[in-house]
Order: sequence, then structure tokens, then C-alpha cells
Amino acid sequence: MKKIYLSEVDSTNLYAKSNIENLADKSIVHAANQTAGRGRLQRTWVNLGEGNLFLTFVLKPSNSFNEVYSNLTQYLSVVLCKILEEYGLKPQIKWPNDVLINGKKIAGILSETVMQGSLFKGLVLGIGVNLNTSEKDLASIIDKEATSLNLEISKSVDVNLFLDKLAEEFFADYDNFLQKGFELIKNDYISRTCFLDTEICVQVFNDKKCGIAKAINDKGELVMSNNQKEFVLTIGDIL
Ligand code: BTN
Repeated sequence: MKKIYLSEVDSTNLYAKSNIENLADKSIVHAANQTAGRGRLQRTWVNLGEGNLFLTFVLKPSNSFNEVYSNLTQYLSVVLCKILEEYGLKPQIKWPNDVLINGKKIAGILSETVMQGSLFKGLVLGIGVNLNTSEKDLASIIDKEATSLNLEISKSVDVNLFLDKLAEEFFADYDNFLQKGFELIKNDYISRTCFLDTEICVQVFNDKKCGIAKAINDKGELVMSNNQKEFVLTIGDIL
């Protein structure tokens, strides 16, 4: 696995996309600071500064897109949960791939597909994890409830050790995951989800879908029901 370290970059995902031709499959791009971090659904990812993790996996599994690639964010959320559990924490997954501790977001994951015309070039799978942040910074910089690993375990975290562990655990089952798909992690994923069997609303682009969160199906999609009618969501943000 090739590692690229940048002291500052606009976004590790953008860097990986722009350099995809020159980056080997399974490389990782790590930055100490991101000046224009990208989040899901056109949002930004705040730079909490050095000491936090800004990482992108560069993945070139084949020459054409496969459905299972859409589930890699969920695979990564499970990998992260298992690492956080080693610290004695009880992380939860908010569909599709936010990782929370006690209801507060500790990490965000963003996968982007890289195309050149109609040619599939690969995926850049980015993850930001709050590892060393003060409560004051979290409250003043982030508008939603958030937390950081150092606050949860009351000691500072070594970013490089955390990164090495995350990359090692990610690649340990990655090839197997590509073969088997979401079903490989379905139980691990579901056992950590919050919101199942509760009434929720999901923002889907400009639309809001409300109902009971019934299940996660074999494709990792959210099955909901409203007035006895079932519907399936593939993308969205639980409000
Ligand atoms: C989210 O909205 O929750 C996803 C946030 C993803 C942030 C990470 S930080 C590393 C990588 N580079 C980016 O610009 N975004 C992702």
C-alpha cells in the first residue's frame, strides 16, 4: 500500500481524483490539514486541524463500475466502528454511513466515482475522523452535535497509529467484500445501526420522506414504511 502524505491540501478526495492516473490501486492520501474538505450531499467538511484524520483510499478494482462499490462507504463505517470499539466505545451507524458516539457524529465518509468520459477510472473513498479536538472548537466550528475520540476516551490520540490501523483493517477484508458484497457485513452493520424501528424523516435531495425505518435490505438500502406502504431509499440523510 502506497501512502502519500500532504501537510496541506484543498481536499484529499479532490487530490486523489485529479491524480488518479498516477496513483496506484490501494494507495492512500493523508493530509494534516484540508482547506476545502468535501462532505456528502454538496456539504463541506470542516478542517479541525492537525491531529484529526483526513484520509482518502484510492481504489481501482476494475475497469467498469460494479454495484457493490456503492456499499464501500458502509463497509468502511463498520471497519471504523470495530476500531472504536477497541477503545471501549459503543459507536453507532446512522444510515448510510455516519458514525456516531452517544448520538454525536465522530466521522464522515464520502465516496466519489472517477470517470473519464464514459470510462470508469476508479473510486476515491474519503474519511474524516475527529481524533483530537477541544470541546470549544467542536462547538464553535461545527453546527451539528459532534464529538472527537480524545474527548470520549479522555486522552490524546496518535493520528498515525490510528491511520495505520484503519488502513490495515480496511484492506484486510476489502477483496473479500468486493466478492461477497453487502451481505458479508450485513449483520455487523445492522447490529450497530440506530434509528431502525423508529419514526424518522430522511432528506432526499429536495424531498423529505417520513415513516418508520423498517429494515436494511441485502443491498444496504433503507426500507421504510408509511401508511402500510413500503418504499426503499438508496440515498439520503436522516434528519
Ligand atoms: C460527510 O459529509 O459526512 C462526509 C465527510 C467526508 C470527509 C472526508 S475528510 C477526507 C476526505 N476528503 C474530503 O474532502 N472529504 C473526505
